[in-house]
Amino acid sequence: MRNPTDMTAARADGRPISMVTCYDTWSARIIAATDIDCILVGDSVAMVMHGHDTTIPADVDMMRLHVAAARRGAPELLLIADMPFLAHRKGLRPAMEAVDVLMKAGAQGVKIEGAGDTVDLIRHIVDSGVPVMGHLGLTPQSIHAFGGYRVQGRSEQAAAAIRAEAVRLQEAGCFALVLEVVPSVLAAEVTEALDIPTIGIGAGPHTSGQVLVLQDLLGMQPEFRPHFLRTFLDGFELLREALGRYDEAVKSGSYPSDEESYR
Ligand code: KIV
Repeated sequence: MRNPTDMTAARADGRPISMVTCYDTWSARIIAATDIDCILVGDSVAMVMHGHDTTIPADVDMMRLHVAAARRGAPELLLIADMPFLAHRKGLRPAMEAVDVLMKAGAQGVKIEGAGDTVDLIRHIVDSGVPVMGHLGLTPQSIHAFGGYRVQGRSEQAAAAIRAEAVRLQEAGCFALVLEVVPSVLAAEVTEALDIPTIGIGAGPHTSGQVLVLQDLLGMQPEFRPHFLRTFLDGFELLREALGRYDEAVKSGSYPSDEESYR
């Protein structure tokens, strides 16, 4: 996909959408060589690339750096950037400046967690010509309010709130909606109620598409194995083994050989 309208068209045609997080140039190049539809420069970068426990330390500067790096590796691919913690909660001007920075770094739209009184701001951003992706369910920027990484929308009341907020986000002009760690039935109901695509993570199979953190699906973080995660590679072990062979080659004197040296 090249832009958000391609995602709208995929939903209309019933074509499943694949999205993956990406924070740097070299992995963006690999993703761009696949049929994956869309890159999300998520604020999970704070955890995956910077070693923090939550996404809260991500800020606009951190996001700008990673958006620009990912964009250089995938110049043609649809790329959405996360608005980091509180960037959209400090008033209109700072929020629009954050959007400006992320778009100028190479994003084609921003993802914003939550609804509530952020909906008016989302409408303003959309009216400014910037595509916005909503995000409901387990929104990690609110992790302390949730009391941990827990399935959201389990009670009828909580499910009704998510259904209502999803409709409000669509009405505010969101072009797509991420649903994170909610029961499959709820994700199916939300998807059915909306015209815009829903992208699930831990939300079951009845959404318009799926998103996973790249390093999670590649098995780079063996200690992180939530119930919903499927790993498609034993990446940590493969890289560990390759690095071990390099170390061995250096220490045994077999690398570099004559052929790998300049005369
Ligand atoms: O930051 C992120 O990576 C995300 C996805 C997991 C949806 O928001």
